[in-house]
Amino acid sequence: MAEARVIGVNVPGAAYEVLVRPGLLEDVGRLLRRLSSAKRAVVITDSQVGPLYAEKAAASLREGGFDPIVATFPAGEDNKTIETVCAIYDQILPKAIDRAVPVVALGGGVAGDMAGFVAATILRGVPFVQVPTSLLAMVDASVGGKTGVNHRVGKNLIGAFHQPLAVFIDPQTLRTLPPRELRGGLAECIKHDIIRDAEGFAQLETNIARALALDMEYLSELVAHNVAIKARVVEADPLEKGERAHLNFGHTFAHAIETLSHYAYSHGEAVALGMIAAARTAVHMGMLDSASAERIAALVRAAGLPAGGMSIPTGEVIGALIYDKKVRGGRVRFVLPERLGRVVIRDDVPEDAVRAGVESIR
Ligand SMILES: NC(=O)c1ccc[n+]([C@@H]2O[C@H](COP(=O)([O-])OP(=O)(O)OC[C@H]3O[C@@H](n4cnc5c(N)ncnc54)[C@H](O)[C@@H]3O)[C@@H](O)[C@H]2O)c1
Ligand SMILES: [Zn+2]
Repeated sequence: MAEARVIGVNVPGAAYEVLVRPGLLEDVGRLLRRLSSAKRAVVITDSQVGPLYAEKAAASLREGGFDPIVATFPAGEDNKTIETVCAIYDQILPKAIDRAVPVVALGGGVAGDMAGFVAATILRGVPFVQVPTSLLAMVDASVGGKTGVNHRVGKNLIGAFHQPLAVFIDPQTLRTLPPRELRGGLAECIKHDIIRDAEGFAQLETNIARALALDMEYLSELVAHNVAIKARVVEADPLEKGERAHLNFGHTFAHAIETLSHYAYSHGEAVALGMIAAARTAVHMGMLDSASAERIAALVRAAGLPAGGMSIPTGEVIGALIYDKKVRGGRVRFVLPERLGRVVIRDDVPEDAVRAGVESIR
């Protein structure tokens, strides 16, 4: 059996490992047994991932000596609500759960965020394990301890920080992930390298076709690399008071684009456009050389993500950014690249630079 790649995450009050290896799903029970002496385990999954992997996860947990209970909720962001959490409580609380019972999230970021919130709240907190199955969940949502649900007033407004006991990543599960979801995860990978790692960016330029072709050796390396970047950012700023905001690179524009398109653009697609708009905004301000901005656009395109052709009027995007600013009070904060691998937070970006950035993705 090949060795798993291991990334340590150290945050106040918690230190845990993220393991990455093709086929790891079959060993989740055995690995969890080293961390838990509980008799039972709860698996929380969605209606799309459950039929594909819940039985495999349950079989592995039985091998590790756990008696697994599987709770399923309907897949999709629309179901990331407190009502769904209540329905999950109804499925698991009658089954004699005690404080030691680990909750295992099996699925994408929606499953991870909701299972994490369930783990944070039942019995005032039980151990939590992540088994992410979407690329976005592997490289982003499963690391950092943020859990929660949406409210009709806005996304992720209800939640808690609850760090996992461990994160087990099996890149083989990406074989069944819809290609559009895979590309969305790649947008976050591109983001990570732009904010922290120029060499990683160059590696991704060379290997992007291997990622799209689901080359397992490369995907394992890519996931481990991205987990390490996210882990370092989160470690430096666990409660999001400063530099963790760098992870929002491309996202200020993306949230406006996502919303104004009525979610015709997926999150990853909007982030792809947003990163290019931010890079070209930085070029307009004389902060970034245009060759770097064009490398970002080219890599986005090579990942099969949109790099232009956005039909939303520039004024509407700017209006949404300003509305966002009014809602939060104060100036619009942008995360802008100074060079590949380095970003800064700026709240003094002139409107003409923002306009130029948005115009450039139309
Ligand atoms: N907690 C955090 O720090 C954090 C960070 C980023 C995003 N998020 C959250 O993550 C969510 C987005 O995550 P996502 O993109 O994974 O969404 P998701 O969980 O909805 O997954 C996307 C779709 O892919 C399906 N899927 C997942 N894995 C699959 C597989 N291996 N095979 C087949 N289908 C599979 C899911 O059932 C779903 O239909 C958002 O709610 C976002 O707020 C959280
Ligand atoms: Zn994102």
